[in-house]
Amino acid sequence: MKQINIALLGCGTVGTGVARLLLEKQDMIRARVGAQINLARVADIDITTDRGIRFEPGVLTTDAQAVIEDPQIDIIVEMIGGETIAKDLILAAIDNGKHIVTANKALLASHGNAIFAAAAEKGVDLAFEASVGGCMPIIKTIRESLVSNDITSMIGILNGTCNYILTKITDDGSAFETALGEAQASGFAEADPTLDIEGIDTAHKIAILSALAYGMQINLKDVYTEGISQITPLDIEFAGQFGYRIKLLAISKHKGESVEARVHPTMIPFDNMLSNVNANLNAVTICADAVEDILLYGRGAGMMPTASAVLGDLADIARNLLTGATGRVPLLSYQMNNIRPVPVLPISEIVTHYYLRFSALDRPGVLSKISGILGKNQISIKSAYQKGRKTNGSVPLVMLTHSAREADVIQALKEIESLDVVSKQPVLIRIEDENNE
Ligand code: HSE
Repeated sequence: MKQINIALLGCGTVGTGVARLLLEKQDMIRARVGAQINLARVADIDITTDRGIRFEPGVLTTDAQAVIEDPQIDIIVEMIGGETIAKDLILAAIDNGKHIVTANKALLASHGNAIFAAAAEKGVDLAFEASVGGCMPIIKTIRESLVSNDITSMIGILNGTCNYILTKITDDGSAFETALGEAQASGFAEADPTLDIEGIDTAHKIAILSALAYGMQINLKDVYTEGISQITPLDIEFAGQFGYRIKLLAISKHKGESVEARVHPTMIPFDNMLSNVNANLNAVTICADAVEDILLYGRGAGMMPTASAVLGDLADIARNLLTGATGRVPLLSYQMNNIRPVPVLPISEIVTHYYLRFSALDRPGVLSKISGILGKNQISIKSAYQKGRKTNGSVPLVMLTHSAREADVIQALKEIESLDVVSKQPVLIRIEDENNE
């Protein structure tokens, strides 16, 4: 039986999961793939920690460079993460004709165009299912299953850490820091949790998905990105009163000649399926013309779910090697000569619904001043709610709008903030509600 030799670069949590699956499931994998996928080398700076796996003598090494130069190795599995060493090693491995599997969303979102071009030029496969949504087969779905579909939108929860934190605050009244600490202890937060909390990890993922779905170059810099650090329990409570839950959503829409790609806390109705995706789970809805709607749901992080996605990629590449079909699926879903730059709409140009919260003095005429400014800026109010009664202090005044252009909302908020009856900066949270107009 043919042997396909693979090497792991980085043997942390997911790398260890990959090694475990390869060893524990080798009979089943061999039966399904028709080849023995052999874990030939594992390079890591730490080769002494017991990972609970009995590696064959000579497998572990600290010399990653030697591994990517080893002519016996067919596939390199990059599990180092980050944008520096991992990038150099992947490019060098491609140059050596190795096929690549990676889960490195930060690297692909920031440098993917160059990396994919290098892989295509060299004629090697580069698979990255584990980079977005952990075990959910989102990349395979877009690249292969939906080949005959115009994808019109993808809306998802793509960061388990933020989803966990928001769920804990909403359902258990946990403090933000406590929930973040639990996410870190559970191992699904990034090494630098700012990447999670500030929405950057989610932006990496939606930049990759948008490129695959719409045949465009990866464009991270134009993805509007706002995290959850400013979300307060008060806004979560108000959201509930209006029938919404707050989720950190990645929203990508293909509209005419441009694309919307944005990440921000979003209010979604209780009857939206994404509102019931809780804890550290991920989910994405894909809307496309032939299929209408698809929902993928599952674990977006963690040792074995992510390792499972890596093994799926390894099997694909191994099957390509067995049949001489390398390059069968275009790396970025479209053939390289059909990938074009597509403009991403600036956030100021999006049209959606808004939740606005003001801290306003409880005096006659305040509501009309605020609503007057909103009206002057073409913003129609759907409902208004004031909490409490204070004769000499500020009270929260909440308004939900009908569809409005963001630039108009920002202009109105600037004018409202300068009113002497309004203290503090107004709060703006976007709403995704198909039942609203
Ligand atoms: N930090 C990420 C998350 C891990 O919380 O979802 C998976 O990319």
